[in-house]
Amino acid sequence: MKQQGSIIPPHVLIFPGPGQGHVNPMLKLAELLGLSGLKVTFLNFQFIHDQLLLHADIEARFTKYPGFQFKKIPDRMSVPRAERPEDMADIIKDLIERMKTSSKTLKKILVENSPPIDCIIADMLMGFVHDVAKEVGIPVIPFENASSCSFWTVLSIPRIIAAGELPIKGNQDMDRLITTVPGMETFLRCRDLPTCCRVNDLADPKLLMITNETRESQALILKTFEDLEAPILCPLRTRYPKIYTIGPLHELLKTKLRSIKKQESYSSLNPLWEVDRTCITWLDNQASHSVLYVSFGSIAIMTREQLMEFWYGLENSKKKFLWVIRPYSVTTNDDGVEEIPEELQEGPKERGYIVKWAPQEEVLAHKAIGGFLAHSGWNSTLESIVAGVPMICWPCFGDQQMNSRFVSEVWKLGMDMKDVCDRKVVEKMVNDLMVDRREEFVKSTARMAELARKSVTEGGSSSCSLEHLIQDIKSMSI
Ligand code: UDX
Repeated sequence: MKQQGSIIPPHVLIFPGPGQGHVNPMLKLAELLGLSGLKVTFLNFQFIHDQLLLHADIEARFTKYPGFQFKKIPDRMSVPRAERPEDMADIIKDLIERMKTSSKTLKKILVENSPPIDCIIADMLMGFVHDVAKEVGIPVIPFENASSCSFWTVLSIPRIIAAGELPIKGNQDMDRLITTVPGMETFLRCRDLPTCCRVNDLADPKLLMITNETRESQALILKTFEDLEAPILCPLRTRYPKIYTIGPLHELLKTKLRSIKKQESYSSLNPLWEVDRTCITWLDNQASHSVLYVSFGSIAIMTREQLMEFWYGLENSKKKFLWVIRPYSVTTNDDGVEEIPEELQEGPKERGYIVKWAPQEEVLAHKAIGGFLAHSGWNSTLESIVAGVPMICWPCFGDQQMNSRFVSEVWKLGMDMKDVCDRKVVEKMVNDLMVDRREEFVKSTARMAELARKSVTEGGSSSCSLEHLIQDIKSMSI
């Protein structure tokens, strides 16, 4: 506790979940808080911390903020690679369990850290951080990494169960409407629920794994913006009275950097993967809106058969495409070798370009991009929205199932290809997105992009929310 009138800036500890899609947005939040003069400690499990600091530019970029430090939890921890798409839910469940074993180490860090920590911002996926912080008396503001629509549905699972709307009774039951999630009564089907709901048995631990991590709190940080999810934020505020909607974070950071430094100084961060920038040169030589960008995020995995359906669907569509095929994103054979067929290893001829990892924010903002075939990860969805790029959604797990339903049914920003992987459907949807229904989608994506950009300008909802968050953190340290 500091003395009244203290001019020492508050010290915030930020602790993201261990994955690209979790670390990246929280690093952006860390920079935003650093920019506003707060002292920030960015804590990670050792394997993430080591990867981060492999990049000299990351250290240089952040240590210019006074008091900024990277810190690690020196416990052994890693995220195993999924062998099959259906393994994802178990991997996440095990990870949540294993992270709890670091409670003791975390407690030591929180108690001994100098300067003392005034406030913690922790990923909602890690309930143990909230418990340890409570024990040592440090306030925590949870950071929800998924969309509000997904989070609200997760919170509503007990209500769905009580109404007898779960479990799902096999494949034939997937299109049944779920009527007990406030705000979604008319369009939410069983197949749109977060994947933890895809169980036959209510006692399956996967069903409640994420709900169990959720902690009650007065406050909550969401990387969304008011105009996008207002109808869902309303009921959510009955559970979390103080919600800070500060998305899209990359756009907010870009705008703040510009306004402070009066110049374009934002570069996207890609701390955990080596970016292949040759794709930008390739895009520079393509016609406006002629290329479909294809990427399924940082964790999802697909089978060899699914890969081939996408390959033939893309080839047969006769549209140009830039495709990210991440290492280990395809199932391996018995010898542990990825099952990438020869025709694909040779690469597409002049119509396509394949990379292992792209500078995605830059790609989506490129004038050559006309559509995005995506897995509906929440970061990717927001990046596509800001860039005004329509989407074909092929969700793989978790919140992606919900995001894709909202993209297609609620926001009308694209199409949902959920649970289907067929070359003919891929071909048809690509042509719909890029040609036949292009006008319709461009109208709605342009409108939403404008609202997203408005939210991060001075006086916009996300910009104001960030200011409130900073003021509230400052008041915690007095
Ligand atoms: C997962 C979930 O899907 C997501 O919904 C959840 O909120 C976080 O965990 P992930 O698979 O990583 O996330 O997807 P996404 O949330 O879209 O994040 C991927 C990030 O990697 C994006 O910021 C994207 O810009 C970046 N990326 C992806 C690249 O920079 N280059 C690439 O080639 C692919």
